[in-house]
Amino acid sequence: MLSLKSVSKRYKTGDLALKEVTLEIPEGQVMALIGPSGAGKSTLIRCINRLVDPTEGVITLDGEVISSLSARGLRKARRRMGMIFQEYALVERLTVMENVLSGRLGYVGFWRSWFRKYPAADVQEAFRLLDRVGLKHMADKRADELSGGQRQRVGIARALIQDPALLLVDEPTASLDPKTSRQIMRLICELCEERHLSAIINIHDVLLAQMFAKRVVGLQLGEIVYDGPPDGLGPDVLTQIYGEEDWEATISKVEDEDENDEEAPEPVASA
Ligand SMILES: Nc1ncnc2c1ncn2[C@@H]1O[C@H](COP(=O)(O)OP(=O)(O)OP(=O)(O)O)[C@@H](O)[C@H]1O
Ligand SMILES: [Mg+2]
Repeated sequence: MLSLKSVSKRYKTGDLALKEVTLEIPEGQVMALIGPSGAGKSTLIRCINRLVDPTEGVITLDGEVISSLSARGLRKARRRMGMIFQEYALVERLTVMENVLSGRLGYVGFWRSWFRKYPAADVQEAFRLLDRVGLKHMADKRADELSGGQRQRVGIARALIQDPALLLVDEPTASLDPKTSRQIMRLICELCEERHLSAIINIHDVLLAQMFAKRVVGLQLGEIVYDGPPDGLGPDVLTQIYGEEDWEATISKVEDEDENDEEAPEPVASA
């Protein structure tokens, strides 16, 4: 389980990006983190993997206090956190296989990784993962020859080969078309279920969050203003998170439509 207790982050510039954020994410839960630009979504993820140090508060992952680890302890702890990014962060001139294997860098010794000599078991696992994410025949392609959706699949395989307990996902679909976005979100959520992984997925698309996450947390100016099921994101809640707007159009209407069907007037027979 991941736990954040009263986590605050003030950057050197004075920006208070997180204000006493308290959250618990049980094993296997996929949580979507929504909120306007600047709300603190990326900061929250970076505090968990300690790319930035929280100013106050305690973060634990499976009982281990992440927020006060030494550099050595942190290297080990980061193996348990798989990262997936909007811009994929692949090494363009390397092959798909080499990019996936680079997820093992936290385990493989420096010289082995320098000569890119990975254990056979890692290579087998990489093939298995490539198959699972639908890129079985692309192992030898260079990363710069792939489409955005394919790149993100490589990013997912690279995160999973770490054998993480937690996935930290920062806007995985922001550069993808609507159908590919759904496929990528579906893949991430299926893999979390298969492997019993917890995940935090930062996402701007409210509908995608509602479709795929069982829990949605809304951040606004560094504070949690909503924490609940996806169908609780009504116009009032969205106004609280994002500000005044006509939110009706963005919310899934499936349930309303059913109700409307019942109330629909009888068709008038033509004379
Ligand atoms: N390295 C930094 N130094 C100073 N201030 C920062 C830094 N990174 C972020 N901030 C500030 O912290 C606040 C939260 O930023 P953050 O990037 O976490 O928001 P976000 O919710 O991820 O936004 P977006 O949706 O645009 O990615 C903002 O006010 C931002 O300006
Ligand atoms: Mg961000």
